[in-house]
Amino acid sequence: MTNLQFTYPLAAEPSLSGLDFSLQKGAFLGVIGGTGAGKSTLVQLLARLYRPQKGDLQIFTDKQSPKTIREWRDLVHVVPQKAELFQGTIRSNLLLGISEEVSDEQLWRALDIAQARDFVAQKEGQLDAEVTAFGRNFSGGQRQRLTIARAIVKASPFLVLDDSTSALDYLTESKLLKAIPNELETTLIMISQRTNSLRTADKVLVLDKGRQAGFASHEALLATNDLYQAIHFSQHQKGDQDAR
Ligand SMILES: Nc1ncnc2c1ncn2[C@@H]1O[C@H](COP(=O)(O)OP(=O)(O)OP(=O)(O)O)[C@@H](O)[C@H]1O
Ligand SMILES: [Mg+2]
Repeated sequence: MTNLQFTYPLAAEPSLSGLDFSLQKGAFLGVIGGTGAGKSTLVQLLARLYRPQKGDLQIFTDKQSPKTIREWRDLVHVVPQKAELFQGTIRSNLLLGISEEVSDEQLWRALDIAQARDFVAQKEGQLDAEVTAFGRNFSGGQRQRLTIARAIVKASPFLVLDDSTSALDYLTESKLLKAIPNELETTLIMISQRTNSLRTADKVLVLDKGRQAGFASHEALLATNDLYQAIHFSQHQKGDQDAR
């Protein structure tokens, strides 16, 4: 994207301005920033709920270039912060919004990548195990993983995780964030509050009050970016063995 600017209807100030970066196809982009920094706004632009007034998100190759909003939304799949499960079975939840035939093998592969195989395998009925309304018979972290598995089944070229791993422990999250780039060709955009979650990202976009305050790897930002350091060290003890 080049010099992207976006102001909400009726808002006095732009919520995003001067975003200027590019990304390789299939890359893993992390996005971090404090409250009000513009992270959810960026997600809404990616989902084409709004269009920027200046610049454009040139995220598609010419071949992919969508003609309609519907096509756009088929190419970009956003996993919301709050997991969305529905009354039915694991299978019906994974297949939500999908019309093609999907084999059980493909469903298990998606569960594998989403680090959800073990707890599904332990449920009576497995893929046909019951999901109660809002997925209340699953833990918060399990619900998030099932919602991510659904996105993997859909196999969109762009997968946007809007802080959708917040209920996972660090080890499970890190396995998931390694499996997605290793196993899938999707471009992964991950909004996170935690610098730890972005260690394996190819690039991290640091947002500060709607502006681009950094764009580099975790390691590089940790060495040079004041804001990234401040966020990181508010989450880790300075000098902590594990801090890097
Ligand atoms: N629908 C809206 N209309 C007008 N202004 C909005 C709207 N949504 C967000 N904003 C403003 O845009 C700015 C960025 O908000 P955004 O929700 O993108 O932040 P965020 O980084 O997601 O924060 P948080 O970590 O709290 O979720 C804020 O100043 C916010 O007040
Ligand atoms: Mg937000």
